[in-house]
Amino acid sequence: MSDRRQFITGAGLAAFTGLGALGVLYGAKRTWDMLPSVKAAGFTTIDVSAAQENVLVTEMWRGKPIFILKLAKDAKPASAPNGNDANAYDDKRLLEIDGSKYLVVIGLCTHLGCIPAYYGDENKFKCACHGGEFSASGEVLKSPPPSPLVIPPFKIDGTKLVLGEQGPEYKKLVADGIVA
Ligand code: FES
Repeated sequence: MSDRRQFITGAGLAAFTGLGALGVLYGAKRTWDMLPSVKAAGFTTIDVSAAQENVLVTEMWRGKPIFILKLAKDAKPASAPNGNDANAYDDKRLLEIDGSKYLVVIGLCTHLGCIPAYYGDENKFKCACHGGEFSASGEVLKSPPPSPLVIPPFKIDGTKLVLGEQGPEYKKLVADGIVA
């Protein structure tokens, strides 16, 4: 390959990579709106009362992104390659806080740990690394992710969510085999 051709190929790759990075940043911005929260001694307390339906909020807890999504009553995925196209609103993995249903999960793909992006118009998360998809309740819609998005330990206190503490609702999910 000539030096000139190598340079052009390299420049094209750099431009493509740059565009990809911009896309990731844009995706992150779309999902990086915060709710009021307090962090102390490994616990993060988040008031979810200002959350809007079908708008993903991302918080940080012990260095990991935490996804919080208030579900709309119709949260059926636009498509489900593995056939699991149930309405996510009815999923037992959701937490009920002040009469509304929420997805609360660690925002890392269970395949190799990339951060999936949420597509509200399709009611699903998509992982750009290897094409995995999850429903709005964190169930796998498309492999390679081997398992649903992981629910962190939590306690519900009125309209507040305390991450890092194991409240009765979390213990029930463990007892029911929904959380390992
Ligand atoms: S890390 Fe998400 S699909 Fe591979």
